[in-house]
Amino acid sequence: MIPVLIDCDTGIDDALALIYLAALHKRGEIQLLGATTTAGNVDVKQTAINTRWVLDQCVLPEIPVAAGLPGPKHVPLVTTPETHGDHGLGYINPGVIDVPAGGWQEMWQEHLSDQATRLIVTGPATNLAAFGPVKNVTLMGGTYLYPGNTTPTAEWNTWVDPHAAKEAFAQAEQPITVCSLGVTEQFTINPDSLSALIDALGEEPIAQHLPEMLRFYFEFHQAQGEGYLAQIHDLLTCMIALGKIPFTGKEVTVDVEADSSLMRGTTVADTRGHWDKPANAFLIDSVDIAAAHAELLRAVTSTS
Ligand code: RIB
Ligand code: CA
Repeated sequence: MIPVLIDCDTGIDDALALIYLAALHKRGEIQLLGATTTAGNVDVKQTAINTRWVLDQCVLPEIPVAAGLPGPKHVPLVTTPETHGDHGLGYINPGVIDVPAGGWQEMWQEHLSDQATRLIVTGPATNLAAFGPVKNVTLMGGTYLYPGNTTPTAEWNTWVDPHAAKEAFAQAEQPITVCSLGVTEQFTINPDSLSALIDALGEEPIAQHLPEMLRFYFEFHQAQGEGYLAQIHDLLTCMIALGKIPFTGKEVTVDVEADSSLMRGTTVADTRGHWDKPANAFLIDSVDIAAAHAELLRAVTSTS
């Protein structure tokens, strides 16, 4: 049973990642120790409310949630309500939920001293950079020789807090497993696979909210010319972090452009030793997408 912490900026695909982790926790395949949040898709207070609400709707009120740092240290916070909705959950309004302030660093200190604990980061690296080196990290972020979704060369999480991303790789004592856009954009959900997910969730309270959560995300992707579907980056990242689906990757050295306005958040992987620096990332370069679709339905289908 793998101990897991997630650090997320809940958002719609973060919510699907939480639903998946909740299902694995109930199956006894992981121990979901807690969730911390960053600002990114929406502000950090709202990402904490959203994360608390999703876990409550997955009937896991005992899993602790703590808001992390308020936002990037060196650049103003930019959020993306146009992508995830005013509250960060599409057309869903989770209402006002009191999420206790503070405690994220204590949660990490308590659990990350156990080297088996897997930390999965699905938002900006703001908390990770501030906390310091962590042994087992899987991060959704960056784009490597693949078009960005925020600028021509940058992915959203890394663009929001480029200094934190730069610091996280610079201080890494073990390679960070990196799930970047070239891999995560392959994993999409559409109305048909959403229906299959809702059917598999059965009586879980969260199921009833998915249509209005995902409709916003489908409309956003359609407006971007991607079709009436949604890229679910963070869910795939969790499956890879937990070794639940086949994937390949390679050790590389990553650096991040933080100070250029034009190239802000651009991630670069040295695959040929040009920089003569030790590897700080394990960059995923292929994944079995059919297995990912099957894994989601396996995990959420009730065993009772
Ligand atoms: O670029 C995709 C990433 O940005 C995902 O984590 C999504 O939730 C947004 O935070
Ligand atoms: Ca996210």
